[in-house]
Amino acid sequence: MLSRLPVSKFFAEIWVAQDSRICRIVDFRFYLIAMRLFRASPLLVFPVLAIGAVVFGTLPSSLLRGSWGSGEELKFVAMVSSRGPGLPPVFAYWISGTGGESEKILRLLRAVYHPRNRYLLHMDAGSSAAERTGLAVAVRSDRIFRVFRNVDVVGKGYAVDRTGPSALSATLHGAAVLLKLGGDWDWFITLSSSDYPVVTQDDLLYAFAALPRDLNFVDHTNDLGWKEFERFDKIVVDPSLHSDTNTESFVATEVRKTPDAFKIFTGSPWVILSRPFVQHCILGGDNLPRKLLMYFANVAYAAESYFQTLLCNSPEFSNTTVNHDLRYFVWDDPPKLDPLLLNKTNYKQIIRSGAAFARRFMKNDTILKKLDEKILRRTPGGVVPGGWCSGQIGKRGVKAPAMDPCLGWGDINLVEPGPYGKKLKRLVSQLVSEERLHSSQCMSLDAHKGQ
Ligand SMILES: *[C@@H]1O[C@H](CO)[C@@H](O)[C@H](O)[C@H]1NC(C)=O
Ligand SMILES: *[C@@H]1O[C@H](CO)[C@@H](O)[C@H](O)[C@H]1NC(C)=O
Ligand SMILES: *[C@@H]1O[C@H](CO)[C@@H](O)[C@H](O)[C@H]1NC(C)=O
Repeated sequence: MLSRLPVSKFFAEIWVAQDSRICRIVDFRFYLIAMRLFRASPLLVFPVLAIGAVVFGTLPSSLLRGSWGSGEELKFVAMVSSRGPGLPPVFAYWISGTGGESEKILRLLRAVYHPRNRYLLHMDAGSSAAERTGLAVAVRSDRIFRVFRNVDVVGKGYAVDRTGPSALSATLHGAAVLLKLGGDWDWFITLSSSDYPVVTQDDLLYAFAALPRDLNFVDHTNDLGWKEFERFDKIVVDPSLHSDTNTESFVATEVRKTPDAFKIFTGSPWVILSRPFVQHCILGGDNLPRKLLMYFANVAYAAESYFQTLLCNSPEFSNTTVNHDLRYFVWDDPPKLDPLLLNKTNYKQIIRSGAAFARRFMKNDTILKKLDEKILRRTPGGVVPGGWCSGQIGKRGVKAPAMDPCLGWGDINLVEPGPYGKKLKRLVSQLVSEERLHSSQCMSLDAHKGQ
């Protein structure tokens, strides 16, 4: 029956047709027109969508940017992130989640939003095509994301097993797409849908402004302990690498020797990587990134060791490693697969930690509301306010403003840090101070013992 065909399905095909992997869509207004027509007469939808597909499929994106007439779009052209010494950096966020998490992802996106940054969202094969379309439509229907055009959604949800190398492959794809989308960003930040920021973006931009742009914040150690046998001697096969659906990894019966061609380092999978290092991973002429990738294709939790091992075995990058991931989390005793879910009882420790992000949170936990009100000053459904918003942000520690201060905006390069930004800057400066930095960088245990 014609009238039962879901309109969103047609819409999905239009944006997927633009680029099979990334949906940098076209115009949401077309979708609205199609919806209206569909109600009036379902038959009319086909010619309209066909015209839409032709127009948007063939027009170069530069035309799509400037010429659609609305004041909003024209304004975009003039508002680019200024770069240079003394100016804040630009972050590129990779935010990943699975089925049923699109609301969590959107809330996280708003909580880490800044017009200077870039965002790439991905929902893995655990999500339905309808949910991924829903996420893309939600992004396109938000006025701020539409004007600044710095949020993209990966159109295809490929299979990911977070305990296997497919999780690493997804992260590397995110990094590659963010390099390709341009936007001259400085740092690549990985987040999961269960993460939440505990500082504003102004705080984070301020804390990173004075840092050398080649630093990589990666928690790492080469004290492998029990992991040496469990993780690196065992051979793991991750069917998500070759399957359409999320599939659990399994362990082969054979074991192999711990490598001696390079030294393994392991740590947290949540990283902040410099642009030069990401380029080295994705585009570099050196063979180590690829060789390691092939080795880690059969290692459990490859995402916890790949960047660590690559950084520490590359002489040109090992001195850029900061041994900290700037996240707050609590492990159970004994530790389980994931850190504990945080709730209101953890609020004080989270704030005291001085970290930039915390994990893990349950969807809509009351602590998120508290963080929104007290720390981020974010109104429900709004983005985290900053110096770029033209409205009144109001005082910290009291209730968030009733009116969203970011309905209008001014200079997007203006950053106004609060007390938590200053605290984060102190933490970061301490971490990168000469003696701290070099004593914790890729230290080999053997070297320690030998001293
Ligand atoms: C790392 O060392 C290189 C030279 O070997 C130097 O140019 C670079 O500034 C150093 N980076 C840091 C963060 O110390
Ligand atoms: C908060 O988390 C702690 C530790 O995981 C747990 O013991 C406690 O019951 C939780 N409280 C609530 C209100 O969920
Ligand atoms: C989230 O929680 C608040 C109370 O903390 C409740 O009022 C609201 O309806 C919840 N929203 C969703 C989408 O569940």
